[in-house]
Amino acid sequence: MSRIAYVNGRYIPHAEAGVSIDDRGFQFADSVYEVCEVIGGRLVDERRHMARLQRSLDRLAMARPLTERAMAVVMRETIRRNRVTDGVVYVQVSRGQMRRDFPFPPDGTPASLVVTARNNDLAKIEARAAKGVAVVTMPDERWRHVDIKSVALLPNVLAKQAAREQGAQEAWLVDAKGYVTEGASSTAWIVTRDGVLVTRPLKGDILPGVTRSVVLDLVAKQGLRFEERAFTVDEAYAAREAFITSASQSVMPVTQIDGRPVGNGAPGLTASGLRRDYHSQAEFT
Ligand code: PDD
Repeated sequence: MSRIAYVNGRYIPHAEAGVSIDDRGFQFADSVYEVCEVIGGRLVDERRHMARLQRSLDRLAMARPLTERAMAVVMRETIRRNRVTDGVVYVQVSRGQMRRDFPFPPDGTPASLVVTARNNDLAKIEARAAKGVAVVTMPDERWRHVDIKSVALLPNVLAKQAAREQGAQEAWLVDAKGYVTEGASSTAWIVTRDGVLVTRPLKGDILPGVTRSVVLDLVAKQGLRFEERAFTVDEAYAAREAFITSASQSVMPVTQIDGRPVGNGAPGLTASGLRRDYHSQAEFT
């Protein structure tokens, strides 16, 4: 019997089921899910699972793809079509599909809904329960590996959306000690009043930007004064210039931070110069 998945209004064999490559779940992990136990073909603790799903949706300002009642029907129909008696039903809701861009899609973009169901091997689970299981301890590192260019970008999406709602292009993320780490999708830089370029060192708490590394080569070549160190938000407020770097915008001057003008409020000479010269240093293949 082929397994059947519910995907956005249709029941489809697993082999053919899929969401768009533009789905926010695929692009940004911008999605939430629930797993509900099924015993004797009946849902276990459905009310609590659906309450948690609603909470997750609310926390992320994500629309419901279906009413709770309709979702209950879809879950049961998926269980029925897969002849699940004892197992689990899986529900994933994403913020829908849109050309890849960090901020939320326009209002009215339908959320995506995927529902699958499968039987458990009850004998195996019971045998395991009879013996008990082992655990090992390890540091809780969910998700601190920001030096890896992973698509676990939901926090970045939320930061970028908040920035856009405040009329800003980018969010600068700040660590617990008040130091800027990086942009939601870019590397953060300032130029101090004394004309020293400053950006955070690569110590695992920022993504090692490719554009950053090319700009550093350019800085060395042009003999500009440079310090690789963390800088605080206050230092950024007081900076002569600020800018961000990323593959999608090379060097982009920042003229306002938290509503305050940076320097004289116009793109600075250093940032503009680096922007002008960037592609003379970059490699073309
Ligand atoms: N973002 N930091 C983060 C969190 C990023 O997502 C990016 C790039 C950078 C800059 O890296 P690079 O210079 O290699 O592009 C720093 C890309 C552009 C994006 O997600 O669209």
